Amino acid sequence: MLNELDSRPQPATAGDLAMTGIAIASGKGGVGKTNVVANLAVSLAMEGRSVLVIDADFGLGNLDVLLGLSPRYNIGHLLTGEKSLEEVLIDGPAGVRILPAASGLQSLTAMNQMQHRRLQDRLERLRDDVDYVFMDTSAGISDNVTDVLASATRTLVVTNPEPTSLVDAYALIKVMQRLHPERSMELLVNSVQGESEAREVYRHIRKTTERFLSLSLDLFGWVVRDPVVPRSVREQQLVVEKYPDSAAARSFRALAAKLDSGKSPKTHPSGQVLPFRRDGSGRR
Ligand SMILES: Nc1ncnc2c1ncn2[C@@H]1O[C@H](COP(=O)(O)OP(=O)(O)OP(=O)(O)O)[C@@H](O)[C@H]1O
Ligand SMILES: [Mg+2]
Repeated sequence: MLNELDSRPQPATAGDLAMTGIAIASGKGGVGKTNVVANLAVSLAMEGRSVLVIDADFGLGNLDVLLGLSPRYNIGHLLTGEKSLEEVLIDGPAGVRILPAASGLQSLTAMNQMQHRRLQDRLERLRDDVDYVFMDTSAGISDNVTDVLASATRTLVVTNPEPTSLVDAYALIKVMQRLHPERSMELLVNSVQGESEAREVYRHIRKTTERFLSLSLDLFGWVVRDPVVPRSVREQQLVVEKYPDSAAARSFRALAAKLDSGKSPKTHPSGQVLPFRRDGSGRR
C-alpha cells in the first residue's frame, strides 16, 4: 500500500541533502497536528536523523506537555534576544531538539517581521547540523500560520474524516493558494480506519480543490485511528516509543520513511548506514 504512494513524484527539494523544513497545519484545531509532528520527528531521530521541532503554536503551544518536558526558556526569550538558540533548545525523546513555544503569552500569538527574520537567521545557522525541521502550527488560518507554511520545504495539511475538519482544511488550502500560489501542499488524513477511508477523504477534498481552486493536492498518507494515541497523550509518552507495535506507530513510521525516502542514507556514529527498511516499518 505504501509503495503506491511512494511512487508519486516527490517535491524537488525533498531529495536535497540540505535541511528539510516540514510545516504542519490543519485549519481546525484538535485534529492531531502535534501528535503527528512529535511521532514523525522521533521516528526519524530513531533512525539516526538529526531533527529539530519548532513549536510554532506560538501563544498556546503544548508540544512540551505532550512530551512530558518542562522547558525553562521558550521562543519568546529567543525573539527578545534574552537567550541564545542553544540556551532555549531542549532535548526530547531520541535526541530530538525542541524549540518550545511561549505558552499563554498573548504577545507571541503574532510574530512581527523582525522576529520572523531573527528566527530564520538563527535557524539558518543550524543548516549543516540538522536534517529535518518540523514546524507545528496553531489551529486557524492566521498570518502566523500561513507565514510558517510558506517558509517550509513541504507543507502537510492534516484533516480527519469529519466534515468540519474537511471544510477547515479546505479553507486553509484556499487561503494558502491566494497568498502563496506557488506552493504545493500535501494532505495527511488522520484518524482513519485504513487506506480506503483515507483515499475517500482525499478524493472528496481533491474534487473541491480541483474544481474551485485549479490546484492539485497530493495525498501524503494517513494515520489510523487508534486508542493508544489518547492513552499515550495522557501518559505524556509518544506512541512510537511506548507502543511501537501499535497500528498508529506503524502508520507514523511508514510516513517517516516516506519523508526520508528522498534523502541519502545517513551514517550512524557506529559507522552503519541507516536507511529505513523498504517496508517502511522503520525497523531493521
Ligand atoms: N490517530 C489518532 N487516533 C486516535 N486519537 C487521536 C489520533 N490523533 C489524534 N487523536 C486525539 O486527538 C487529540 C488531539 O491531538 P493533537 O493535540 O495532536 O491535535 P492538534 O491538531 O495538535 O490540536 P491543536 O489544534 O489544539 O493544537 C489527541 O489528544 C488524541 O486524543
Ligand atoms: Mg497542537
